[in-house]
Amino acid sequence: MNRRYRKTIIAGNWKMNKLPGESKDFIVQLKEQASAAKWCDIVLCVPFTHLHAAVKAARGTRIAIGAQNCHFAEKGAYTGEVSCRMLADMGVKYVIIGHSERRQYFGETDSDVNKKVKAAIDAGLRPIICLGESLEIRENGAELDHIRMQLKAALKDIDAQQLRKVVIAYEPIWAIGTGRIATPQQADEVGSAIRETLRSIYGARAARGVSILYGGSLSESNAGGMFAMPDVDGGLIGGASLEPASLASIIDAAQQD
Ligand code: 13P
Repeated sequence: MNRRYRKTIIAGNWKMNKLPGESKDFIVQLKEQASAAKWCDIVLCVPFTHLHAAVKAARGTRIAIGAQNCHFAEKGAYTGEVSCRMLADMGVKYVIIGHSERRQYFGETDSDVNKKVKAAIDAGLRPIICLGESLEIRENGAELDHIRMQLKAALKDIDAQQLRKVVIAYEPIWAIGTGRIATPQQADEVGSAIRETLRSIYGARAARGVSILYGGSLSESNAGGMFAMPDVDGGLIGGASLEPASLASIIDAAQQD
């Protein structure tokens, strides 16, 4: 991480877990355990049904609430979908876009991701754009090309001003929920390729301000080594974000110099 130029962000992704009523207790506990988190932004991305309770419980704390998906249209005949404006109106600040589970199970394309990123920024939300390669792509040594391609597609027609809202998360698919974390060097290599690509499109100044998170089997035992890398500016955490104590330990790891 490099706090001089960009924010450290620790974001939990609850995925499809817990019930709405569990949000409040969780936030109360996390708030107590992570009280010294002045160096990093804390985000909790919860299911749609939990947003109301989570936003209410997080009011007056340093915890921002995020959603895990959105639709790209402002409104209209899209049964079952939720627009970015609806999220922003509830007090939601972040939205995860293009998670590999959405790409894999729900057929989300790079073009959908790009439309959602634009919609999120237009509504005043900060998109957390997920990028990541499969094991097959990594074994073929094609991960950097793959990530660059996903990144460029996600940011098509996004200008430098809009980029300031964007958070990138590098999540290798083979590391998600598997206990097989990328090495800090692997994460940093991809993080630095992402920043280099941003630099080539937006220039050095804009690129150095973007927070690039790592996600995939992060836990309290491995987070410190990961956050020590220059192009890892925090984490997007699945399993370990379901317990306040383990998320608080990861936040503590992000406070170290
Ligand atoms: P795990 O931390 O459970 O591997 O999940 C990572 C992830 O997908 C976060 O978005």
